[in-house]
Amino acid sequence: MHDPEVLVLGCSPRKDGNSDRAALEVARILEQQGTPAEPLFLRDRKILPCMGCRKCELSKNNRCVLAAKDDVQDILTGIQEADSVYFCSPIYYYHLPAVFKALIDRGQSFYEAWTQKGEPSGASKKACCILIAGRRKGELLFQGSIITLKYFLHPLGFNLSGLCLRGLDLKDDLDADPSSLQKIRTFVLQDPS
Ligand SMILES: Cc1cc2nc3c(=O)[nH]c(=O)nc-3n(C[C@H](O)[C@H](O)[C@H](O)COP(=O)(O)O)c2cc1C
Repeated sequence: MHDPEVLVLGCSPRKDGNSDRAALEVARILEQQGTPAEPLFLRDRKILPCMGCRKCELSKNNRCVLAAKDDVQDILTGIQEADSVYFCSPIYYYHLPAVFKALIDRGQSFYEAWTQKGEPSGASKKACCILIAGRRKGELLFQGSIITLKYFLHPLGFNLSGLCLRGLDLKDDLDADPSSLQKIRTFVLQDPS
């Protein structure tokens, strides 16, 4: 049996904020469990937005016309090939920040390849999202992001489980909140890779 390959993605445009802290915490817990996981921060990668050209739908190999121009193909292939993946992201206007949503929209070429194969139901791997919001209130605060992540990840072979954290707004709020850090620990240990 090979060692599980686990990806940890930090999905905030803000450096050293709460999502970064969550990603580092997840990586630390995984390392303690014997699973190396170096966080990858999306803001450090080149991610061009989907142009809606539909070439991925019409071409034989479903390849995105932007694939050679940025880092998206590598990131999405890495996700698809991983055994499990963690996404740590803030909530922006009840959804995911633009850098993360741009990556998700580029998943369209993977979606097209999956549908053209007859939508094989291979979603057996585990993806975990840790979503972080500044506000404490808002019943629907995480709902849009969770639906989007679920349908982005299904063609890539993953089922989604999520941890939603509220009331973390300033850069160091998570670092100063042992209860939220403990929730992350429990979540990661309950959802082992
Ligand atoms: C453009 C923008 C939009 C935001 N929208 C929301 C929101 O809709 N609901 C909320 O609870 N917090 C919102 N926030 C607050 C962030 O979710 C919060 O500051 C979070 O801790 C940022 O995570 P980070 O430190 O990982 O960047 C928003 C922040 C920004 C900058």
